[in-house]
Amino acid sequence: MSRFVLLSPNGDFDQKLRAAVANGLRGTIQTISSDILPAGPAELFALLNQEQPEVLIIGPDVPYEEALRFAKVFDVQLPGLSLVLVSDVDPAGLLHAMRAGIRDILSPQADAAEIRVLLERACQSFATRHRGPEAQQPGDGKGLVIGVFSPKGGVGKTTLATNIAIGLGQVAPMSVVIVDLDLQFGDVASGLYLNPEHTVTDAVTPAAAQDSLVLKAFLTVHPAGIYALCAPPNPVDADHITPEQVSHLLDQLAQEFQYVVLDTAPGMPEIGLAAMEKCTDVVWVSAMDIPSLRGLRSGLEVLRQLDIMPESRHVVLNMADAKAGLNVRDVESTIGAPVDVSVPRSRAVALSTNRGIPVLQDSKKDPAVKSLRQLVQRFNPAWRTQAQRKLHRRVVI
Ligand SMILES: Nc1ncnc2c1ncn2[C@@H]1O[C@H](COP(=O)(O)OP(=O)(O)OP(=O)(O)O)[C@@H](O)[C@H]1O
Ligand SMILES: [Mg+2]
Repeated sequence: MSRFVLLSPNGDFDQKLRAAVANGLRGTIQTISSDILPAGPAELFALLNQEQPEVLIIGPDVPYEEALRFAKVFDVQLPGLSLVLVSDVDPAGLLHAMRAGIRDILSPQADAAEIRVLLERACQSFATRHRGPEAQQPGDGKGLVIGVFSPKGGVGKTTLATNIAIGLGQVAPMSVVIVDLDLQFGDVASGLYLNPEHTVTDAVTPAAAQDSLVLKAFLTVHPAGIYALCAPPNPVDADHITPEQVSHLLDQLAQEFQYVVLDTAPGMPEIGLAAMEKCTDVVWVSAMDIPSLRGLRSGLEVLRQLDIMPESRHVVLNMADAKAGLNVRDVESTIGAPVDVSVPRSRAVALSTNRGIPVLQDSKKDPAVKSLRQLVQRFNPAWRTQAQRKLHRRVVI
């Protein structure tokens, strides 16, 4: 069955669409190459052997009025289908198109990457509209929620969170969202070189909290095939966001995405603790110095007392350096827990922060890249089942 159907005589666009789908989307395309549209759903499905696609793409080179007529018929008879119009419409035309039931508009000049993002969105909206009411309940999502935490600042939380998100995006394109919960001074946007139009402030508004489609419209798409929800640009805005809103937001995202990656503020603020309670996986980060290691030990102790124990814990020693005067046994006895992954201090990592391109996005050869891939691997379902018994294996610095 074809997931996408294109109604257009334009061969060039057909090629671009196929390239977009081939580059990371599930499903196939069927093209009906004519500028005369079928009279309605029955005629179209006869051409498609009675199979219904998820996304119907109309144009380019289909008369605009004809496209809107067709959309209106579909909107009445099959409102669940996602209709995309490929046209250079002006704002007035846009309004007509939306009233006719067109869900999204694509420029005929769009490149394959833009087409892919838009198709992904159209498929998601199809999936949301075809879920039963029981699936709409927050909190029963299957996605992993991976939070990166540390009691001390500057140890590499943002570096690890952005690399985990990019690394997972390479395994599961468009199925990862990174959320910046360092609400006051977050720098996921800078770490990923993004200029977000919307932030967490928009994502916790009642409209987004009640409708995951609205929420998704507030996410920023990163060119590496992941979504990001960045922190508000003004630290004052962060004061209005409550732990309850964050908990609900994470429930919603876990329902929509395979992986939800959280960057957090240092310490254990209320927002961080609320987020930790939603985590399936907590990544604890420490740098290789005694204050940072002792901070982590106290942090783990506090959580034991609060009885917050996420399903899986991963301890990462970052900026590991053989010349720091400590060995892995010293580190583990100071933390009071085994180290799972050790990421060496690396110039490439330091540079990547300033460039806004995580090292896993570049195919650089660097010892830190190898360790970061090991960390990403820990969230791969196949690896988890095989390695469950060896979840905490001693590392060598
Ligand atoms: N393995 C590494 N090697 C070299 N530099 C690193 C490494 N990891 C992180 N850094 C650098 O350390 C600095 C702090 O990293 P990062 O911003 O990720 O820390 P953070 O824990 O998020 O800080 P904050 O608590 O302020 O949010 C950055 O300049 C980053 O490039
Ligand atoms: Mg940070």
